[in-house]
Amino acid sequence: MVFEELKRQAAIEAVKLVKPGMIIGLGTGSTAKYAIEEIGRLLRIRALSDVAGVPSSKMTEILAIQNSVPLTSFNEIKVIDLNIDGADEVDTKLNLIKGGGGALLKEKIIAQASIQNIIIVDESKLSPKLGFKWSVPVEVIPFALELEKSTFEGWGAKVKIRVDKNGKKFTTDSGNNILDVNLGKIEDPFEIESRFQKRAGVVESGIFAGLTTDLIVATTKGLFHLNKGDSDSKFHLIFKD
Ligand code: A5P
Repeated sequence: MVFEELKRQAAIEAVKLVKPGMIIGLGTGSTAKYAIEEIGRLLRIRALSDVAGVPSSKMTEILAIQNSVPLTSFNEIKVIDLNIDGADEVDTKLNLIKGGGGALLKEKIIAQASIQNIIIVDESKLSPKLGFKWSVPVEVIPFALELEKSTFEGWGAKVKIRVDKNGKKFTTDSGNNILDVNLGKIEDPFEIESRFQKRAGVVESGIFAGLTTDLIVATTKGLFHLNKGDSDSKFHLIFKD
């Protein structure tokens, strides 16, 4: 499928920025998976050495072990040199919606600890404003699930409790639940992110405002590398309505 190939291309481009000695944030999802596999391949053929990764989920930890990528944690390090992760939706300022896979909490902890945050996506993830394509995943402690659901409904949102493939409430790696909160088009991601953070029952939201330093987009016309602060017109050269 064409999107799979684009995801792979974006991931391989990002891994070119990994240098010996680096601590790497290992994202979660079908795009980040290709980056982990590529790091493992480079280590195996000795084109890369002396790196360690911080996994953003149990799933990613297993994948890293399967690919012989050495792991570390915040018990040993405090700063991540370079984080490589996917996203569900990206706006013109490189703000993100993440958490489609439910790993948003550790993903945001890693992003906040990283000097460089490289987001890898295929062109379908680009959006003029967040919220056009995705609801905002919000990780909530089980005790407050119904309360926060009705709070967000009071904000005018349509809210769904995420369920797993067995129809049970989805549980995150940290034992919490996810509300998928459809707020419609989001004009100010910073404001919405802090609105969620003010609720005691909310552990974290999937709005990642102002964290991305680099965006690598794979399109059928080629690869594009955008940096934080690039003009909206550069984004619109890639994104076509
Ligand atoms: C995991 O919780 C998410 O934040 C993923 O990083 C995001 O959903 C992107 O996943 P894909 O690369 O599978 O689209």
